[in-house]
Amino acid sequence: MPPNVRSTTPGAFAFAVGAQPSPGYRLRRVRGRGGFAEVWEADSPSGPPVALKFIPSSNTTMTARELRSVQSFAGMEHPYLVKTHDIWSIPGYIVICMELAEGTLLDLMMLYHNDFAQPIPTDLLCLNLWQVAEALDFLNSRWHVREGRKVGFQHGDVKPNNILLLSDVAKLSDYGMSTATHGPNTPCPRQGTREYAAPEVFAGYQTDTSDQFSLAVTYHVLRTGRFPFPPPPKETGKAFVRPAPDLGAVTDTEKPALLRGLAPAPQDRFPTCRGLIGALIEAHGLKPERDDDGMWRLVKDDSPKNGSAAHRKATMPPVTTPLPNNRRPASA
Ligand SMILES: Nc1ncnc2c1ncn2[C@@H]1O[C@H](COP(=O)(O)OP(=O)(O)OP(=O)(O)O)[C@@H](O)[C@H]1O
Ligand SMILES: [Mg+2]
Repeated sequence: MPPNVRSTTPGAFAFAVGAQPSPGYRLRRVRGRGGFAEVWEADSPSGPPVALKFIPSSNTTMTARELRSVQSFAGMEHPYLVKTHDIWSIPGYIVICMELAEGTLLDLMMLYHNDFAQPIPTDLLCLNLWQVAEALDFLNSRWHVREGRKVGFQHGDVKPNNILLLSDVAKLSDYGMSTATHGPNTPCPRQGTREYAAPEVFAGYQTDTSDQFSLAVTYHVLRTGRFPFPPPPKETGKAFVRPAPDLGAVTDTEKPALLRGLAPAPQDRFPTCRGLIGALIEAHGLKPERDDDGMWRLVKDDSPKNGSAAHRKATMPPVTTPLPNNRRPASA
């Protein structure tokens, strides 16, 4: 276990199956550990099992951030945002009680990789990221009233392990790195997870499209199993510039949308996260549609711009060896 996850406070809560960090909440099993916290599945005094996230309260920066963001996000309702039920403190920890997921998109990627030796099917991946894009557009828009002012929120840590799966629905979680935005550029000293961070984040500010950049990296990682950029050096000054992305592992039809989502200049990206994922969905010959319950699904797009040839091109891996002329596939 990473030593930084457990609290060093004397007399801190002792973790064990069956232990109760609050009356009626009984720990069942560990669901995961991140860099700062440990997440347990637990019975709740009323209703279905929940997830309890324990953040050592000796980590004052994390604790303050989590408390601030839980307060900011309290009462926000969205079908693709993980619900936080409650937050309390116990010796050595603060505890965030939230809805319990089956796993993360990272877990799903590993499952497909290990059990089927293939990536997550594109239609499933695109549907899940479309759901997350809707949640991000909701968060990012400056229509949330806080202290009498309209603000937006950049989530600040969009990545596969912060996207949770509940049945076939993907929900965004972990608001501890979020930043309230009052305008297109907001100073912000935090960098979230650096492999996913937009270039302006290294320069010390968040923009309206910083989350979109991280969503584009997330798509690339989940689709190909690797990052489009080499890892940023440990010490990056404000002048750090990311190299051009290496998109050799995706198909030609996906490249234009990904290049735009990963544009170094924030204003060159799509206006919204749904713009990015919508363009990728279109590249796969699909389109989003709401079903009778109001939930999203992806259907084949038969409009002329997305005929079957476009669909074939999008789902086939790139051809790296030229075929002999007499075996070249017939053009559409
Ligand atoms: N609501 C939840 N339901 C089920 N499992 C969860 C839930 N929240 C988190 N987990 C699991 O616990 C793990 C640890 O979560 P945590 O948010 O502490 O770290 P992380 O997001 O994986 O990484 P990092 O610390 O870098 O942000 C997750 O990777 C996930 O597997
Ligand atoms: Mg997390």
